[in-house]
Amino acid sequence: MSKTPKGTKRWFPKHSGKGIYADTAASSLLPCSVIKAMTQFLNQVSGNPHSGSQAAKLLEDARERVAQFIGGTAQPNEVIFTHNATQALRLAAEIVDIVTDPATRSIAVTQADHDANFNPWEVLSEPLMYARTGYFYQIPLTTDGLLDVERWPLPRPDVLALNLTSNVTGITQDVQDIRTVNPRILVLDATQAMAHFPIGLITPSTDMIAFSGHKMYGPTGIGVLWCKRKLLEAAWEKLRPGVQGVKLMQPSFFEYGTPNVLGAVGLAAACDFIQSVGWETIQNQEHMLADRLYEELCHLNNSGVEVLGAWHNRLPIMSLKFKHHNPAGVWTALAARAIRTRCGLLCAVNPHEALNCPLGSLRISLAFHHTLDDVSRIVVALKEVLKNVNP
Ligand SMILES: Cc1ncc(COP(=O)(O)O)c(C=O)c1O
Repeated sequence: MSKTPKGTKRWFPKHSGKGIYADTAASSLLPCSVIKAMTQFLNQVSGNPHSGSQAAKLLEDARERVAQFIGGTAQPNEVIFTHNATQALRLAAEIVDIVTDPATRSIAVTQADHDANFNPWEVLSEPLMYARTGYFYQIPLTTDGLLDVERWPLPRPDVLALNLTSNVTGITQDVQDIRTVNPRILVLDATQAMAHFPIGLITPSTDMIAFSGHKMYGPTGIGVLWCKRKLLEAAWEKLRPGVQGVKLMQPSFFEYGTPNVLGAVGLAAACDFIQSVGWETIQNQEHMLADRLYEELCHLNNSGVEVLGAWHNRLPIMSLKFKHHNPAGVWTALAARAIRTRCGLLCAVNPHEALNCPLGSLRISLAFHHTLDDVSRIVVALKEVLKNVNP
């Protein structure tokens, strides 16, 4: 298979039209190999994953495949399938609720976080709101979109839950900054990272990692919470004391009901897909796209366009603030030119506030299968729109 950027487009049936799909941070395109694996499952397997069935075996194979893909210290019996990252993060908060003492616990999130990572921790802290102070913190962002750990003079939190890569700026936070906060339990929302770079190296110092299948070339309806075995066992012991031996604890105990085997099969195929493309190809191409896109968008400064966040550890995910235009108007005009972007608060209210863009932005998000020609076409279309669309 051809790995030239033009060649890679053929792997995605949805790339066949004339338009440009520039909304990969919302959902990536589905490659043929993932569609094929899922179709095969539907045609030849389906059925309930009772133990012993082929569906049960495929589910466990998928768990193993996902653990390998996460890499580092991840083991299959630490992989819990969920509907998506949002549910995975809620489960992470449930586990923290079980294993920590509400009377003393302190939780930190950051201003960079997607609502899916902010809400469950805020909810977990609510009962304490009137009881005591010092239980829920939000680490600020600089206007460059980086964690402002220097404005973090507070004591070591029990939990730090934050996104690794922002869905607004495409910036990946520095692991060193995360270490400075030094939480007892570290939860990473890696939803925007999984399709772009390997995360295995961070598993030893991380306790839980959440992500969604549909942002890494897999289907919707499947996500993952990877949780260190020790933490899972501690949660299980408190949840079901004496009911089930801790050593027998299975990740499926946290999966509640019949699992989405079709989704798990699709996610395993998506892991295969990413590995067959190779991190080097993905990272080189995406770095080049990010570089060009950032540069070209910065040139639109004269037209009242501001790219949110600095040039720092960037993926080709860029959100724009307009001085003279409404993002929804620009979004509609680009869609009329068959360029699919996303506008609004991107389910990320706090980062937009931190970046002085409280009314929302327009996001362009690309991946390795896009080309520099796509970047030029997007920028040309954007210039036209800014000239022709009424502010
Ligand atoms: C950083 C981040 N975390 C979590 C989510 C939630 O993902 P999902 O809607 O698949 O649960 C998103 C979705 O955009 C995201 O970008």
